[in-house]
Amino acid sequence: MAENIDYKDDGSTLLLQMKKLEQRTFELEAERRDWFFERDRLQREIQALRTEIEKLTVPPYIEGNITDVLEDGRAVVKSSTGPSLIVNVLKDIDVNKLTPGKRVALSQRNFAVLEVLPDLLDVYVKAMEVVETPKISYADIGGLKDQIRDIKELVELPLLRPQLFEKVGIDPPKGVLLQGPPGCGKTLLAKAVANGTRATFIKVVASELVQKYIGEGARMVRELFQLARSKAPSIVFIDEIDAVGGRRGDFSVSGEREVQRTLLQLLSELDGFEARGDVKIIGATNRIDLLDPALLRPGRFDRVIEIPAPDVKGREAIFKIHMSHMNVSKEVSTKDLASMTDGATGAEIKAICTEAGLFAIRNDRDVITKSDFNKAIDKMLKREGGKSAASTYL
Ligand SMILES: Nc1ncnc2c1ncn2[C@@H]1O[C@H](COP(=O)(O)OP(=O)(O)O)[C@@H](O)[C@H]1O
Ligand SMILES: [Mg+2]
Repeated sequence: MAENIDYKDDGSTLLLQMKKLEQRTFELEAERRDWFFERDRLQREIQALRTEIEKLTVPPYIEGNITDVLEDGRAVVKSSTGPSLIVNVLKDIDVNKLTPGKRVALSQRNFAVLEVLPDLLDVYVKAMEVVETPKISYADIGGLKDQIRDIKELVELPLLRPQLFEKVGIDPPKGVLLQGPPGCGKTLLAKAVANGTRATFIKVVASELVQKYIGEGARMVRELFQLARSKAPSIVFIDEIDAVGGRRGDFSVSGEREVQRTLLQLLSELDGFEARGDVKIIGATNRIDLLDPALLRPGRFDRVIEIPAPDVKGREAIFKIHMSHMNVSKEVSTKDLASMTDGATGAEIKAICTEAGLFAIRNDRDVITKSDFNKAIDKMLKREGGKSAASTYL
């Protein structure tokens, strides 16, 4: 930098030196900008870590419900831990939002209202899936022709044309139960119903409901049906219903008691609405043998639709569906594939198709051959002593 500048020079060296210095200034400026950015980034990181530390160190809040708001701005709350209390409200909370029944978060130290919580319905609606337009249609289901007809008749028809049932003088079933081995199209069928209907389709997976909302299963079920009524005409789909509808067992285990409460709530909701009304329920289970018989009584899940493992015709149809987007060599016969896959479920057939495609990719081909399929069938079906999931079921 501080090179000796030769002032006796004619000026061209001077000019060169100047250029060099300018260049250097430019570089240093750029470097400075980089450091500024780096500093900003680190500051943001510190901020994020501080917030995280704060989150980890604040004591948990207590959930409570507003009972009343006093003239002086204090609130009467009922905390979830028991007594009713008169407490202060944090300054920046809008008192107008504190309507009776509103859920709030209370400080553990003095029970002051710290935060207004969203209404329960909001929270739970997020856990339930209000399906607008699932992409599955009846054409994506192989076999199961009778089952498709049944479910249309039992679920869609009463919603779309209730007067038919009135005229004839019969009550349509309130709910249908899809039962059968895993991977044979129960969830798929329910999705197709959702697609085919103009009704709101609300889906919950019972096993998730029990795992995620420990202690709140019953409340969840109540909210679910409330939502269904407010969005009617609607179809409620409860997948894997055995998770809450299991045979009543050992009530001394607390988890069991919780599941039991959820089931009782479900039963009472089922009893609580009209067969001719505009809410229908579809349940699905792999294990009907484990279901509490109370669920199957008249007026509840009146009708059971069996979704069996596909027969040879069904398997061919399923192969065709899954192969429709695949680049398959002409020599491959879906008929042969179907006869080679006795006992395979729809899910296994789908897996076979994927696997066959992978064999082609591994061999640098873009056309899937018969031998790819043979290898895929061997791999997918023969791995457990030749038994498929459907044949090991029950
Ligand atoms: N009948 C069928 N037709 C076409 N695909 C099927 C069929 N049954 C199962 N499958 C395939 O297997 C997957 C899993 O099926 P699913 O409906 O979830 O089974 P489950 O009966 O356990 O609910 C589906 O997403 C679909 O790809
Ligand atoms: Mg399923």
